[in-house]
Amino acid sequence: MAGNTIGNHFRITTFGESHGRALGAVIDGVRPGLPIDTGVIQKELDRRRPGQSKVTTARNEPDKIEILSGVHEGKTTGMPICMIIWNTNQRSQDYDKIKEIFRPGHAGYTYLAKYGVSDYRGGGRSSGRETAARVAAGAVTKALLAKRGIEIYGSTIEAAGVRAKKFVKDEIEKNVLRCADPDAAKLMEKKVLKAKKEGDSVGGIIEVVVKGVPAGLGEPVFDKLEAELAKALMSIGAIKGFEVGNGFASARLRGSQNNDPMYFDTKSKRVRTRTNNAGGIAGGISNGEDIVMRIAVKPTSSIVKKQETVTIDGESAMISIQGRHDPCICPRVVPVAEAMTALTIYDHLTRQRLMKQQDRISTLRDTIDLIDRNIVLLLSERQGIARQIGKLKKRSALNVYVKGREQEVLRNASRTARDLGLDEKVVTDIFRTIFALAKSSQRALAEAK
Ligand SMILES: Cc1cc2nc3c(=O)[nH]c(=O)nc-3n(C[C@H](O)[C@H](O)[C@H](O)COP(=O)(O)O)c2cc1C
Repeated sequence: MAGNTIGNHFRITTFGESHGRALGAVIDGVRPGLPIDTGVIQKELDRRRPGQSKVTTARNEPDKIEILSGVHEGKTTGMPICMIIWNTNQRSQDYDKIKEIFRPGHAGYTYLAKYGVSDYRGGGRSSGRETAARVAAGAVTKALLAKRGIEIYGSTIEAAGVRAKKFVKDEIEKNVLRCADPDAAKLMEKKVLKAKKEGDSVGGIIEVVVKGVPAGLGEPVFDKLEAELAKALMSIGAIKGFEVGNGFASARLRGSQNNDPMYFDTKSKRVRTRTNNAGGIAGGISNGEDIVMRIAVKPTSSIVKKQETVTIDGESAMISIQGRHDPCICPRVVPVAEAMTALTIYDHLTRQRLMKQQDRISTLRDTIDLIDRNIVLLLSERQGIARQIGKLKKRSALNVYVKGREQEVLRNASRTARDLGLDEKVVTDIFRTIFALAKSSQRALAEAK
């Protein structure tokens, strides 16, 4: 199955299904020698893990990470890093009763239409559980970004129709919704639990902020930074909308309201904007301001409430889903969204670094070309002078070839080579070739009538 890899120079592949033996991720493109802390990866996985509260599923899996390759004595080796999470609490029998019925909002029908087979147990590869592998890879990436002063954080800004009114970053991890407004979080929780009690579910909006991104990330035209971020975030199950900066609201503004006034900040010595309606990206390239994105999370598909559907034979049926499901997946999507953002930003940082290296290489090559041209010009000048000496000697009936003179030049060249740390033999060989060239033109001169 294609489409399991994301990234250009820094690539992540995920594998595994929710009710298979295990799932995991392979990260390729990490430089050697970088410290990897499994504790940090585990902490991120715990944020995504089910069974955290009443608003998330009761499926209680430890999601313990095991690193199979690419790390030695706590440091990356430069080889692919393979991380695995064993499935330990699947309860596949929950799905026995519904294995021949399509679940509305789920991918059972579309997977069957595409592949002719479908793993009905918990959605298989389309399951939210696949995102554990992304979070593991994202944790490694977030740590790499942190070293460069780049920080990523997400929060639920709306759930069950309740909108956060303020933003207190420290509050995000203190409530079950991962909302930066503690009062709104309480109201959200109430509404989520009400929907749960009614056998239903709710959706919400997550905001992701990236701080410390340098200006210049993103590639015209198909790999624009927001296009790549949209792809990464929209690849998460249940995400139905993406916006950056003012997003859809910008459609209702005037240019004078939506443009971000620019100025030169003497402190940071860079161009900045007074407002950030663009969300940190212009022309698909980061402008150095915070990158601000929002994603729409649909209400959880698996609900107890009865819904109309069909069986795999096309017969009408009603379905009520009894397994263990989140009435609102927003808090669990937050770490996944952060992970996908981290992977995309790091990939573009890598691309930018390589581009700068390429620039440097081509500048150095240009310098070498100039030096080579000067070498040829000097050779030609030397040749001209040697010819003049030959002419003068001929006029005075002197011997054209003087062995002692050659030895003297070789001695001088050897000494200079030694002083500069160059290979003396190579340098003297070059001079012998130059002598041969000079001698042949002097000989031609001597033979001329
Ligand atoms: C972290 C996470 C957890 C999820 N948990 C559930 C769940 O418990 N029940 C459910 O019906 N869908 C859950 N989903 C969403 C489904 O995976 C998704 O809606 C389904 O595969 C259909 O794909 P689509 O919504 O992108 O069209 C979860 C998604 C994520 C990212």
